[in-house]
Formats: sequence, structure tokens, C-alpha cells
Amino acid sequence: MSSVLAEADLADPSFWSAPPRQRLDAFASLRRRDAPVYFGAPGRGFHALVRHRDVVEASRHPEIFLSGPGVTTPRPPRWVRTVFGDSMVNLDDPRHARLRAVVAKAFTPRVVARIADDVTRIARDIVDDVLAQRPDDFVTAVASRLPFEVICTMMGIPEGYRREVLDQINHTTEHTGVRRRLRVPGKSLRALARLHRVVGRVARQRRREPVDDLISSLVTAEVDGTRLNSRELGSFFSLLLVAGVETTRNAIAHGLHLLTVNPAQRELLMSDFDKYGGGFVDEVVRFSSPIIQFRRTLSRDHELGGAPLRAGDDVVLFYTSANRDETVFARPDEFDIARRPNPQVGFGGGGPHFCLGTSLARQEITVLFRELLTRLPAIRSVGEPALVPSSFDNRVAHLRFTC
Ligand code: HEM
Repeated sequence: MSSVLAEADLADPSFWSAPPRQRLDAFASLRRRDAPVYFGAPGRGFHALVRHRDVVEASRHPEIFLSGPGVTTPRPPRWVRTVFGDSMVNLDDPRHARLRAVVAKAFTPRVVARIADDVTRIARDIVDDVLAQRPDDFVTAVASRLPFEVICTMMGIPEGYRREVLDQINHTTEHTGVRRRLRVPGKSLRALARLHRVVGRVARQRRREPVDDLISSLVTAEVDGTRLNSRELGSFFSLLLVAGVETTRNAIAHGLHLLTVNPAQRELLMSDFDKYGGGFVDEVVRFSSPIIQFRRTLSRDHELGGAPLRAGDDVVLFYTSANRDETVFARPDEFDIARRPNPQVGFGGGGPHFCLGTSLARQEITVLFRELLTRLPAIRSVGEPALVPSSFDNRVAHLRFTC
């Protein structure tokens, strides 16, 4: 497909509607260039970081590659940030470090260990329902249900609020096609405001009467004598719901399809789940890259991968391309759960913004697939996943399945 490659324009929305294979070929061609290529109008576009080492370098030098100006494209307008507060993905030190320290405190091993039982219970309930109801869309019946229920349970969102919260997530991540350059979660402001209100209501209750859940830990956690203010709290919860549910759901849906179209890998996984379960998760995340890209802005002039970058320039870290970098991964287009090592960057390239939910996502995916493959050993996807064209996430709208 080299004709497509030469003409690829990552800043053109229509690029993101092209079949996945064509886009991957375009990235392979960009990786062969001597230096990152600039896309978009001068001064308003971005340098595309497509090689593994460039993505890692930008991720690990947050003093040069800033998140503060905004990591999504288009950037959230300033007034949105003023009204709703900044989410931690869009902050730099010292504010990012302070917020992350508070939040990390609430993600203690105790919290995660307690969640292990909940994840197993929720996964069992989902499989019970599949057995009883025989639904045909895997995304609704299984993939989106698990991460949503887990996060709500972890946060302590009462059952009565959950329907409203789920509706808000669906609104904030609603697909708007590729009319805009990139699809951005959180663009539906009214939905976001309602989501903040639901969380605020629960947070106020927990401040009065803390219980053993994540919201209580966060409203009472202190770092250097400060607590999260309510805007920070609201932004963090929206981020958790949007970042934690969408990504994991897409990884799960891609996971079932990848096992279906790679029967030998499926057999290997089923032959010894304890041995291959961890490698399966890494390979699904590498192969599907649930988050396609995030953006950074240069704080000063800097040379990267042979390109002279200027202060104020934007770079886009294409995880989806770094994860297929042939200089790092042998046979990058093969799905191989026994790949060792597997330095995939689907959860980020390292550095201070590295995905906070990595262990939770790993746990959810492992527990769910163990349950599915044990109790529904014939489970398979049917046909191709219905993908939503997007330059932000590799989203599966629907996936038919049989068991
Ligand atoms: C397969 C599932 C997931 C994938 C592929 C994924 C991917 C990512 C990526 C690429 C980043 C940006 C990293 C960077 O800029 O260096 C990120 C950040 C983040 N993720 Fe995840 N994520 C997943 C699941 C989750 C879950 C389950 C949660 C929450 C419970 C979560 C919460 C976050 C948060 C809070 C951040 C921002 C961290 C910061 O800015 O300091 N993620 N994730």
C-alpha cells in the first residue's frame, strides 16, 4: 500500500477513517524517515513521534515535553479548564506531582487487594448473565460492563447513581465522527457538569461520614498539609471514569477478537493461563493500542530523533505506531502472547504520567478472560469488530459473539 503511505496526512480527519491496515502501513513508512514529520498548518500542527525511542524519550522528559498546555487535540479551551478544573493528565509539576501523590495514596495495595475480590465477583456475575441471556453484543454485555462496575465499586458510587453516571460517560465519550481533527472525551460540557455534580454529592456525604472506599480516601487524604479541592476531585473522578472505563473496555473487546482470529494463541493461553495470562494482557495492549496518542508541548528548543524542535512546538506521541516499531518488536504485526520482553507503550512511555490504572486494568483483563475461557470455552467473536473512526482511541462500538 505504498501509494497510501506517501500521501498519509495525520492531520487530515479522513486519514482516521482509513482501514486499520492502511494506517499501520502509513506509520511504518513514517518510521522509516530520518526524522519526525510535521503535519498541519505551520505553527498550528504537530511533529509526529512514531518511533518507540522518541515516544519514550518525550514521555520521560516532562521538563521539556509539557502536558500543561493540554494533551488532547484539539486542546480544551481555557474557560473549560477554569470552570471544571484541570485533570491530572493536563498538569505539569509541581501541581501534577502534588495531585498524583494524593491520588497514588488512595491507590494503595490495600485498596487494590480489596478490589481483587470485587473484580472476580463482578466477572462471575457477567458470565452468569451471559449464560442466562445469551446476548450477542460482547461490548455491551461484557467489555464495557466490567470496568464500569469495578470503578463504581472502587469509588463507592451507590447503586442508585450508577445509571446516571453510565449515561454521562456515554455522553462525554460520545462519538462525533471525524468532523473535528480528533475525537476528544469530555467535550460534552453539560454531561461533564452533571458527572461532576454526581461525584460532588457522593464526596460531600463521604466527607461527613467516611467509609472504606476510594472517594472517602481521596476526600480525607492529605499531602504536605493540603487536600484536594472540589474541582480537583471532580476532574479526577471524571478522568477515572472516562480513562478507566473506555480504555479497558476496548482492550477487552480487541482481546476476544484477537484470540478468535489467532486460534493457536488461544490454545496456548488456555493450555496454561497462569503462565501466559500476563503476556496476553501486554500483547493485547501492544497490538490494539487502546489509546492512540497524546500530545506534549516543547518548553524549550530541543533536538529529538534528528528533528530540531522549537520551544512552543507540539509533538504527538503515537503509541499505536511505537507499539509496532520493528526495531523493538520482532514480527510486530504478529499477535504473540509469549513475546519476551514486551516493552509495549500502550499505558504510556514511562515518566510521571504513566497510566495510574495499569495494575487495575491488568487485573480486570486477566480475571475476566480466565472466567470467560473457563466457563465459556467456546466463546468467539463473530465477524469483524465495528470500529469507531477516531484518532484518539481504538474504540470498538460493537462486537458480535457466540459461546
Ligand atoms: C487497557 C487499559 C488502559 C490503557 C491502555 C491506558 C492508557 C493510558 C495512557 C496511554 C495514559 C497516558 C500516559 C502518559 O501520558 O505517559 C494513561 C494515563 C492515565 N490512566 Fe490509563 N489506561 C488504561 C486503564 C486505566 C484505568 C483502569 C484507570 C483508572 C482506574 C486509568 C487511569 C489513568 C489516569 C488517572 C491517567 C493519568 C495519569 C497522569 O497524568 O499522571 N487508566 N492511561
